[in-house]
Amino acid sequence: MTRMRLTTKPETEQPLPDIDMSTHLGALPLVNPILTASGCAAAGRELDQFFDITTIGGIVTKSVMQNPRSGRPTPRMAETPSGMLNSIGLQGPGVDSFIERDLAWLHERGATTVVSIAGGSVEEFAKVASKLRMATGVSGIEVNISCPNVESRGEVFACDPVAAAEVVSAVRRSTTPGVPVFVKLSPDVTDIVSVAHAVVEAGADGLSMINTTLGMVIDTDTMRPALAGITGGLSGPAIRPMAVRCVWQVHQAMPEVPILGMGGIRTGLDALEFILAGASAVSIGTVIFHDPSSPARIRDELARGVAERGFASLNDAIGYAHREPDVEIEHQGPAFVEFDEALEDTESSTDL
Ligand SMILES: Cc1cc2nc3c(=O)[nH]c(=O)nc-3n(C[C@H](O)[C@H](O)[C@H](O)COP(=O)(O)O)c2cc1C
Repeated sequence: MTRMRLTTKPETEQPLPDIDMSTHLGALPLVNPILTASGCAAAGRELDQFFDITTIGGIVTKSVMQNPRSGRPTPRMAETPSGMLNSIGLQGPGVDSFIERDLAWLHERGATTVVSIAGGSVEEFAKVASKLRMATGVSGIEVNISCPNVESRGEVFACDPVAAAEVVSAVRRSTTPGVPVFVKLSPDVTDIVSVAHAVVEAGADGLSMINTTLGMVIDTDTMRPALAGITGGLSGPAIRPMAVRCVWQVHQAMPEVPILGMGGIRTGLDALEFILAGASAVSIGTVIFHDPSSPARIRDELARGVAERGFASLNDAIGYAHREPDVEIEHQGPAFVEFDEALEDTESSTDL
């Protein structure tokens, strides 16, 4: 069997295609669709040593709360097949210090910054948002509703459409009207579309999905849970099909709502899956821990992937997987004949 070589040089040496990769998340314009995922790149300072952070769409900062927090006890990371489990908790300096140090640095550096906020009550979310209203350099707010509601026996906001909507209206009221508010959804619900509807009705300008899914590892030597916090959030390639499914379902139900997709993206083609499912941009998370340059690499791989598939721009690829089935391929007899021949060819070939 003759094999076709697509490239003769390593990908990184190939010239980048001349294709419009700009996009926007509602009112927020982005030079390209690659952002970092909250909690996986702090406030971008460390990443800037590996690549110029102003060359990606934006930085989504670690979720910040009202006061400084030390997070959950250690151990708080565990490896899993194709992923990792973390129970970092919302460790952070508190919003005042964040504004003074991290946000000021990001603004000076010229990065597009989406600030992720969290809270244990509707009031705390509103207070954090109000503080940010006074600050310079906030391009958007991402509301992390995967936190326990201290006023409701610890039930996670993201799992209750009513509580989630209350948080979103409070944040929307406390945020400058021109600054878009994105709400980050959890996959740990029976019907993600109903939560999406609730938060959009409450004023969300867009949706980020997905946050980690709840998991657990037991250490078979100690025969105890591997994490001090017992359960943790599962991330990485293991959750990618779940994340793509969530993006697909929400885009199908609400095609006009901008989506920032994430969950297990490691390559440009992984990112393309999310774009085809309906995301207008993607966030890069767990892969950054072992490849800090990955957001820049994925940006370039995605541009090549989009161009190689014949799209004139990234925009044309958004939601493309939702089109009607390609009838000419589905119903043409010869396509099946060719497929059978190709299969025989492969079976008899030793060139595998
Ligand atoms: C160590 C770690 C910390 C995280 N911290 C946050 C956080 O503070 N706020 C948040 O909304 N998501 C947080 N996440 C979730 C990620 O932003 C992302 O939604 C999730 O990991 C799925 O993407 P990935 O599989 O590419 O990592 C964290 C994930 C990891 C692995």
